Amino acid sequence: MGKIIGVLSLKGGVGKTSTVVALGVAIAKLRKKVLLIDGNLSAPNLGIHLNLIDPKKTIQQVLQGKKHAKEAVHKLGEIDIIPASIFDRIKVNPLKLKDKIKLLKRKYDIILIDSSPALNEETLAVMLASDKILIVTTPDLPTISTTLKATRLAKNRGTPIIGLIINKAYNKHFELTTKEIEETSQVPVMAVIPHDINILKALSQFQSSIDYKPNSKSSQEYKKLASAIIGEKYKPLKIKTFLRWINPTKQDINRTIYYKKMFN
Ligand SMILES: Nc1ncnc2c1ncn2[C@@H]1O[C@H](COP(=O)(O)OP(=O)(O)OP(=O)(O)O)[C@@H](O)[C@H]1O
Ligand SMILES: [Mg+2]
Repeated sequence: MGKIIGVLSLKGGVGKTSTVVALGVAIAKLRKKVLLIDGNLSAPNLGIHLNLIDPKKTIQQVLQGKKHAKEAVHKLGEIDIIPASIFDRIKVNPLKLKDKIKLLKRKYDIILIDSSPALNEETLAVMLASDKILIVTTPDLPTISTTLKATRLAKNRGTPIIGLIINKAYNKHFELTTKEIEETSQVPVMAVIPHDINILKALSQFQSSIDYKPNSKSSQEYKKLASAIIGEKYKPLKIKTFLRWINPTKQDINRTIYYKKMFN
C-alpha cells in the first residue's frame, strides 16, 4: 500500500509546486511508482510546471464524478500526474478528494499532493486526504508565522507531519536559523533547499530541477529527502557530500532519525 503525502504552506510562492515536482522525480528515480496530484483547485500550477497547460483529464473531473481517478492520469516519463484545469470554472467539492483517490494507493508507492496556499476547503481537503504532510516554508518571519498556523492546523486535525522544508535559503545571518525554526515550530526540519537560480531555469524549460541540474545543491537535498521518505539510505556520489557525514547538518540528523523510526 502506498502513502499519500500532502505538500502544504499557508503562503503563496514559497515553493510547494517546485517541491512536489522535484521530490516526485527524485523518488521516481529511486525506482518507486510516483503520482503527483494538483490539489490547488483555485489557482492550479502543477500542470504548468510540467507543460500540461490545458489538460483534458483533470482532478476537477474526478471530483465531479465524471472520471475515475485512474482515468485522469497523465504519464510524463518516470512520473504520473493528475493535473487541475486552470479554465474549469465548475464548482466542485474538494472534500471528496480523499475518497476519490484512496484506491490509487494500491497502484503507487508515493502520491504527492500539491496544495493551495490559502486556509480554505482545498487545503483542508489535502490535509484530510494525506497520510502525512510536509510543510514548505521560507526562513523569514512573515512566512514562519503562517507556517506555525499550518503546523497547528495539522496537529489539531491529527495529520502526522513528516517535517518542514526550508526553501529559498540564502544561508545569511538575517535569516531565521534552522534551530530557531525548529524551536518555534516544534517540528523537525527535513531539508534546507538553497535559493537556486537553476530552479527558476528548470521551470522556464518545464522540467523538474532534478532533471535540469541533477547534482546541484538543491537537487542533492531533494534526493536525500526522497531517500529518507522511501526508506533507502542516501548514497552520495560526490566526495564533498560524503565528507559532510562526518559533520552532519541538523536536517541530515533529522532525516536519519525519520528513516530509522520508519524503516528499522
Ligand atoms: N529554491 C528555490 N530557489 C529559487 N527559486 C525558487 C526556489 N523554489 C521555488 N522557486 C521559484 O519560486 C517561484 C514560486 O515557486 P512555486 O510555484 O513552486 O511556489 P508555490 O508555493 O507552489 O506557489 P503558489 O502558492 O502560488 O502555488 C517559482 O518561480 C519557482 O521557480
Ligand atoms: Mg503552487
